[in-house]
Amino acid sequence: MNAKPADRSMTVLVTGGSSGIGEALARCFARHGHRLVLVARGVDKLDALGRALRAEHGVRVDVMPADLSVPGAAAALAAALRRKRCRIDVLVNNAGVLEQGTFARIGAARHQQLIDLNVSGLTAMLAAFVPPMLSRGRGHVLNVASIAAFQPVPGLATYAATKAYVLSLTESLAEELRDSGVTVTALCPGITATAMLTGAAAHNAGLRRLPGFVIGEADAVAAEGYRACMAGEVIAVPGAVNQAAVLAARATPKWLLRRIAGAVGRKLG
Ligand SMILES: NC(=O)c1ccc[n+]([C@@H]2O[C@H](COP(=O)([O-])OP(=O)(O)OC[C@H]3O[C@@H](n4cnc5c(N)ncnc54)[C@H](OP(=O)(O)O)[C@@H]3O)[C@@H](O)[C@H]2O)c1
Repeated sequence: MNAKPADRSMTVLVTGGSSGIGEALARCFARHGHRLVLVARGVDKLDALGRALRAEHGVRVDVMPADLSVPGAAAALAAALRRKRCRIDVLVNNAGVLEQGTFARIGAARHQQLIDLNVSGLTAMLAAFVPPMLSRGRGHVLNVASIAAFQPVPGLATYAATKAYVLSLTESLAEELRDSGVTVTALCPGITATAMLTGAAAHNAGLRRLPGFVIGEADAVAAEGYRACMAGEVIAVPGAVNQAAVLAARATPKWLLRRIAGAVGRKLG
């Protein structure tokens, strides 16, 4: 019998899929033969990447521009995909923004933007796409957090708090959904060479002086995220340096961790 092999390709929605870690994740899923739905605000970069991935990997790529920091955007995206009869098997919640500087220097509107995208947008995407996965009894979620989720980070206070939220939500959900067929993974990268780092370094000489070995590459981060997501692991920290930092943070009393983070923050700031 020449039975056709089962189609194991899945449809993967990547938020923030036009740049940095999101683009690297999109490339990684495409290389493994999966169909993609790419979401970000800027349509030109999405279109260019979509064309490149179709040509390089022969996979279907749909481009859906959306500002996920706007209330209702995730639900509207889910409704548009339902109308196209496009089922999402893997949700990669990667879109995020960072603002660096002391809390009081950053305006209230900017704090709110971080919360609107990193917390509210990410949660709305989960609320829109996890229930259909549960109905089908299968699916994967990859939430992009950060090693900043494991400790306070003076100079990145609101950003680190949004990432602590992502990590906590991921761990709770992963346990809530145990044995449901749906897995939830938090990818916790350290400092990674993307537009986000370039933007932060433009205002911070300390970041520009960081030794190369502490800066990860987006492709390596994405490869680890893909592996952990497919394996259904709950927390993935790419790179030995970052794993050591997380272990040290966990082993250090909270009061001491705050002091060390404060000293490092003042040195970098
Ligand atoms: N780079 C690092 O050092 C680092 C470390 C740890 C964790 N992370 C996390 O990794 C994720 C990706 O970061 P990155 O460094 O790859 O950043 P990046 O290169 O700046 O890419 C951000 C992506 O998000 C999209 N985006 C931004 N605002 C959006 C919005 N309101 N709605 C929809 N999409 C939006 C951007 O496209 P548009 O601007 O066109 O919308 C872009 O595709 C973030 O969650 C970040 O916190 C990064």
